[in-house]
Amino acid sequence: MKSTLTLFAAALALTLSFGAAAQNTRDYHMDVYDAGCKTCHDQGMKRFPSDDACLQCHSMEEVAKQTERHGEEARQNPHDSMHYGKEAPCQECHGEHTAKKALCQECHNFDYPKFK
Ligand code: HEC
Ligand code: HEC
Ligand code: HEC
Ligand code: HEC
Repeated sequence: MKSTLTLFAAALALTLSFGAAAQNTRDYHMDVYDAGCKTCHDQGMKRFPSDDACLQCHSMEEVAKQTERHGEEARQNPHDSMHYGKEAPCQECHGEHTAKKALCQECHNFDYPKFK
C-alpha cells in the first residue's frame, strides 16, 4: 500500500513539473513558440487555449481538404466526418504538449497515417 502511494506521488510530481514548463513542444509549431506562449494561450496560462486560438492560423476547410477521402471512406475524414461534419474542435483530437488519440479511434480503427 505504501509503495503504491509513493509511486502515485512521484507520477503526480512528474506531471506537475512537466505542466509548468510545457517541455513537450511540437517541432512544427516552433515559430508559434517564438511568438510567445500566449499566441495559443489566449485564456491565460492557467487554462487550456480556446479552439479559436488554433483557428487564427488554421481553418477546418483547409485541413478537411488535406485529409479528404473518397467513396466509401469519404465520411472517415476526421475533419468532415459522419457524426460531426466540420464542427469538431481541433483539441478534441490534437494535443500540443501531450500526445492524444484522435477521438474517432475511441470507437473505430480507421487508418490515419498522418495523425500528429
Ligand atoms: C500562430 C499560428 C498557429 C497557431 C496559433 C496554431 N498553429 Fe498549428 N501550425 C502552424 C504552422 C505554421 C504549422 C506548420 C505548417 C503546416 O503544417 O500547416 C502548423 C502545424 C500544425 C499541425 C501539424 C501539421 C503537420 O502534419 O505537420 C497540427 C496538427 C496543428 N498545427 C494543429 C494546431 C492546433 C490544434 C492548434 C491550437 C492548439 C494550432 N495548431 C495553433 C501555425 C499555427
Ligand atoms: C501551438 C499552441 C500552443 C503553444 C504555442 C503553447 N501551448 Fe501550452 N497548451 C496548448 C494546448 C492545446 C494545451 C492543452 C493540453 C495539451 O494539448 O497538451 C496546452 C496546455 C498547457 C499547459 C497545461 C498542461 C497540462 O498538461 O495540464 C501548460 C502549463 C502550458 N500549456 C504551458 C505552455 C507554455 C509555458 C508555453 C510557452 C512556452 C505554451 N504552453 C505554449 C497549446 C499551446
Ligand atoms: C462514441 C463512439 C464513436 C465515436 C467517437 C466515433 N464514432 Fe463513428 N460510428 C460509431 C458507431 C456506433 C457507428 C455505427 C453506426 C452504424 O454503422 O449504423 C459509427 C459509424 C461511423 C461510420 C460509418 C460506418 C463505417 O464504419 O464506415 C463512419 C464513416 C464513422 N463512424 C466515422 C467516424 C469518424 C470520422 C469519427 C471521428 C471524427 C467517429 N466516427 C467517431 C461510433 C463512434
Ligand atoms: C476528430 C478528430 C480531429 C479533429 C477534431 C481535428 N483533427 Fe486534424 N487530424 C486528425 C487526424 C486523424 C489526422 C490524420 C488524418 C490522416 O492520416 O488521414 C489529422 C491531420 C491533421 C493535419 C495534417 C494534414 C496533412 O495532410 O498532413 C493538420 C494540419 C490538422 N489535422 C489540423 C487540425 C486542425 C487545425 C483542426 C481544427 C480546425 C483539426 N485538425 C481537427 C484528427 C482531427
